[in-house]
Amino acid sequence: MTHERILILDFGSQVTQLIARRVREAHVFCEVHSCDVSDQWVRDYAANGQLKGVILSGSHASLWEDETLRAPQAIFELGVPVLGICFGMYAIAEALGGKVEGGHKREFGSAELRAHGHTRLLDGIADYTTEQGHGMLNVWMSHGDNVTQMPPGFKRMASTVSCAIAGMADEERRIYAVQFHPEVTHTTQGAAILNRFVLDICGARADWVMGDYIAEAVKHIRTQVGSEEVILGLSGGVDSSVAAALIHRAIGDQLTCVFVDHGLLRLNEGDMVMEMFVGKLHAKVIRVDASEQFLGHLAGVSDPEAKRKIIGREFVEVFRAEASKLKNDHSRHVAWLAQGTIYPDVIESGAAKSKKAVTIKSHHNVGGLPEQLGLKLLEPLRELFKDEVRELGEALGLPHDMVYRHPFPGPGLGVRILGEVKKEYADLLRQADAIFIEELRNFRDEATNKSWYELTSQAFAVFLPVKSVGVMGDGRTYDYVVALRAVQTSDYMTADWAELPYALLKKVSSRIINEVRGINRVTYDVSSKPPATIEWE
Ligand code: XMP
Repeated sequence: MTHERILILDFGSQVTQLIARRVREAHVFCEVHSCDVSDQWVRDYAANGQLKGVILSGSHASLWEDETLRAPQAIFELGVPVLGICFGMYAIAEALGGKVEGGHKREFGSAELRAHGHTRLLDGIADYTTEQGHGMLNVWMSHGDNVTQMPPGFKRMASTVSCAIAGMADEERRIYAVQFHPEVTHTTQGAAILNRFVLDICGARADWVMGDYIAEAVKHIRTQVGSEEVILGLSGGVDSSVAAALIHRAIGDQLTCVFVDHGLLRLNEGDMVMEMFVGKLHAKVIRVDASEQFLGHLAGVSDPEAKRKIIGREFVEVFRAEASKLKNDHSRHVAWLAQGTIYPDVIESGAAKSKKAVTIKSHHNVGGLPEQLGLKLLEPLRELFKDEVRELGEALGLPHDMVYRHPFPGPGLGVRILGEVKKEYADLLRQADAIFIEELRNFRDEATNKSWYELTSQAFAVFLPVKSVGVMGDGRTYDYVVALRAVQTSDYMTADWAELPYALLKKVSSRIINEVRGINRVTYDVSSKPPATIEWE
């Protein structure tokens, strides 16, 4: 695909992906690559003339900790603008002959920044102007080192009370560096600064628009696949659903989706997936009801990791069996396996290779399957961030509620039934969970006019296989307990328990106890992550 682009070199900051998000919000395509790419790699990357600028990210490390954290010299020889952010500023200073020194104390948090010298990057961008006419910006700082001497050709672009050189620029070579983080929302003018860099200084074309992307992606899939056929494992989650809708738009009946029902899905989930894909999109979907097989293998197993392994293994088994049947049907030519891999997965695995990121999560992959089946891999969402995937899903006609669904783990209710999984437990949990979700959607917060489903990142019920005593009417009950869990998070690495309104909790509790025979007590989980995890197993 032929978009002009910005290259973001990642030095291992937690917020590098935010830089990419901001650039894409300016409708400019960009890619994140590890900072340890070679000079030759950089030259090859720029060779087709699409590269319009380079951004160097921050880092969790200090310049002194890791000598491999250096910018490839070639980026300064391409003639395209370069912007260094925080650590990226040191990398520029270091590469071009300036001086960086370890500060005596770390500066972390909001700061007031004064712009100097009317550089193109900051000119006319300010939160307010002082009586003396200085442009002032509220910015977010997080650093320990400082540039103490600028490289030849640079002039000071910004300062704060505690940081004399908080920004520097060589306007002739169009190299800019800032100590603060324009990519985080705490920097009020951050988006304006990044827009200025990519649109005005780099002059990149703002042609990254989701609506246009469909036509482009459809064309690309058609060229890739030709007259061959594609299989896709549909899970009901956002990524696989959007991938299916996109591929179906491109090649129609050349796509067959395989939907494995492991018996651990939410209430009516299987029917909803079929209704959407078969009923509305008219896609070919094979629904495999493997619940007995899964529950059979899970019988008597209560260790969480063992349960996860069994579910993962069986899932691959069932899917592989279906895929082989299709592949071995010689009346058709199945040659591709499609997956809903999205860009953060791609970046995370790249970062894992270079060991630059400190926290990496890997979940639920069917790695190795395409090779075993002799199928080529089709990953049409590989370049997209989650919110772009959602936008694309809606543009393809998937319902809003489906593309904005909370995430659901691969092992499903298997990790939400503590200990041994039984059908009886799964049936009770499904009903309780559906009531909770329904009320989260019903209750709205007046201040934001959003439902509590939208105000939480993930919410669900957990089945506790213990019995407690209750009283109902004139009788004593002795039934199971469920816990409700609702969290707010932006990255799922850390999460706060959601302060749901009491009225909502009251309604959910009363409905569950009255409507779900077999549950007589409801509790609310008030543990944050860490030290608790979001799921209970
Ligand atoms: P934890 O429980 O680790 O969950 O705080 C973080 C996020 O990951 C999801 N999760 C999983 N997703 N397979 C998945 O596909 C899994 O085995 C799995 N375990 C946890 C969890 O729902 C939450 O969004």
